[in-house]
Amino acid sequence: MKLINIHNLHFSYGHREILKGIDITFKDNQITGILGPNGCGKSTLLKNILGYLKNSSGEIKLGNKNLADISQKEKARIISFVPQKSQLISDMSVQDFVLLGRLPHLKNTWDGYTKHDNEIVRRYLKELELEKFLDRKATTLSGGEFQRVLLARALVQETDIILLDEPTSALDLNHALDLMTKLKRTMEKKDLTAIVVLHDLNLAAMFCDEIVMLKDGKVYCQGTPVETLTRENLKKIYNLNCDIFYTDENIPYVIPKLKGEK
Ligand SMILES: Nc1ncnc2c1ncn2[C@@H]1O[C@H](COP(=O)(O)OP(=O)(O)OP(=O)(O)O)[C@@H](O)[C@H]1O
Ligand SMILES: [Mg+2]
Repeated sequence: MKLINIHNLHFSYGHREILKGIDITFKDNQITGILGPNGCGKSTLLKNILGYLKNSSGEIKLGNKNLADISQKEKARIISFVPQKSQLISDMSVQDFVLLGRLPHLKNTWDGYTKHDNEIVRRYLKELELEKFLDRKATTLSGGEFQRVLLARALVQETDIILLDEPTSALDLNHALDLMTKLKRTMEKKDLTAIVVLHDLNLAAMFCDEIVMLKDGKVYCQGTPVETLTRENLKKIYNLNCDIFYTDENIPYVIPKLKGEK
């Protein structure tokens, strides 16, 4: 049911076509990394899957259902999202902000959150070591702290699929590794499927089961980190010369060269 299948997806902002016929099948219970240079359409692709953008053509299917036929509320019980940037609309506490992730599960809005909702929020805040921020105004958090709170909000939504747009961009290396480890652990425990946009190639190599590389609005390649993180592909995608080493576990490790170095 979770399998996301995208076929011949086209999307334009005004007259500018950004996605030019995307075909991807995301495998269940895997972390798929989306890589590609700034502006190539990664966030646009995620927003299409979420149904935030209209006027696209092609097909996005969830299992055998067309995503366009699933209501936003039902979709919010299936897919959660950690956005690249998020504006805080009010001065709410971290606890209240994370509780927003439980909204799609409310039976009636006027009933408010249940004890169960509050327990789930507490559990994830504890797991992500964010308990100490519970009563803090979310607006007073640092960029990295807030990014971890965004992950908490997505996880309390308890969906089968989670989309993450550069979830580690504001995190120090320790917290980036920690976030990806916790994501992977939660995934394995709950049979989640994750699609994550990353710029850090080595983080992608360590944590992704598959990688999709985008170029010029199309899928350039899809495969395991070993298959996709090659010198040739990185030259084509990022115009980057690099050396690639392999760890004992056969995980690629990319070392970029300075411009002008061969
Ligand atoms: N609302 C919008 N209106 C017009 N153009 C847009 C809009 N949003 C994005 N674009 C343009 O569409 C292109 C793709 O944007 P997108 O945000 O999907 O890129 P991205 O691959 O996520 O890049 P980054 O790595 O910088 O986050 C960019 O050239 C961007 O300027
Ligand atoms: Mg983006």
